[in-house]
Amino acid sequence: MPPSERKAILSAPFSAALDITDVRARLSAKRLGTRFHYFAELDSTNTRARELAESGAAEGEIVIAESQTQGRGRLGRRWESPPLSNLYLSIVLRPGLPPKHAPQITLAAAVALVETVGSFLPRPPVIKWPNDILIDGKKLAGILTEAACDTECVQYVILGIGLNLNYRAETMPETLRQRATSMADRAGENLCRETVLVRLIHDLDRCYGELEESGFAALRPRWETHFGLRGRRVRVELGDQTIIGRAQGIDHEGALIVETDDEQRRSIIAGDVIPLET
Ligand code: BTN
Repeated sequence: MPPSERKAILSAPFSAALDITDVRARLSAKRLGTRFHYFAELDSTNTRARELAESGAAEGEIVIAESQTQGRGRLGRRWESPPLSNLYLSIVLRPGLPPKHAPQITLAAAVALVETVGSFLPRPPVIKWPNDILIDGKKLAGILTEAACDTECVQYVILGIGLNLNYRAETMPETLRQRATSMADRAGENLCRETVLVRLIHDLDRCYGELEESGFAALRPRWETHFGLRGRRVRVELGDQTIIGRAQGIDHEGALIVETDDEQRRSIIAGDVIPLET
């Protein structure tokens, strides 16, 4: 990256509020970012986006907040959402996909996120199926996709993204510091949140467009390239069942393939994956 461009991505005082006018002016995404709903604080951007979708918000509308009081992660977990340092956004999507393909939106978003983050850092992050973006085993970003479907079609999907951006380790709660990291900690300096946001929306727009036009097959090779657990021993929690084996990759629909110790090939549609040491 040339020094002039590098300077442009360094942050203004990082406690400044997001300049959404600047973001809008720099956006040339086709479908995402048609409208921004910006808040200093929300309970959860996903909750607000869902309310908007229920009252007719169009595809591409984005809810973004400087902080969340009840930021939500997968499996009922909490997403730490301190003010003015990270990105918390939820995008209303109205995809022309059958309901069984809706989870592929999470996988497409993971490709976009890893590509965005990787373009700012010396070392790219990896994907942990299905929705985590990690560096050195520490979480940098997460995706929470919530869909409203009827039997035949998807009414809307809320694509929620939390990205630890200028969230320095020394300001994280002790328990979080052990398992989370941020772009600034990895880059060694604060980054301009507007620049990262614009790039993220473009990458999401591109990957979502590829998914809709060509199906998941078009994105799968890139997802596989960024997959951080290939060949690793993992434990997969499936509610009342646990599987232990080696993660192999994903199938053409996005299910995780695990080869168990008794050489069975299991394909997992939903679950929590924990990497094991050996
Ligand atoms: C996870 O890793 O479990 C998913 C985390 C998703 C967090 C984001 S922050 C913006 C959006 N609003 C929420 O309440 N959650 C998502």
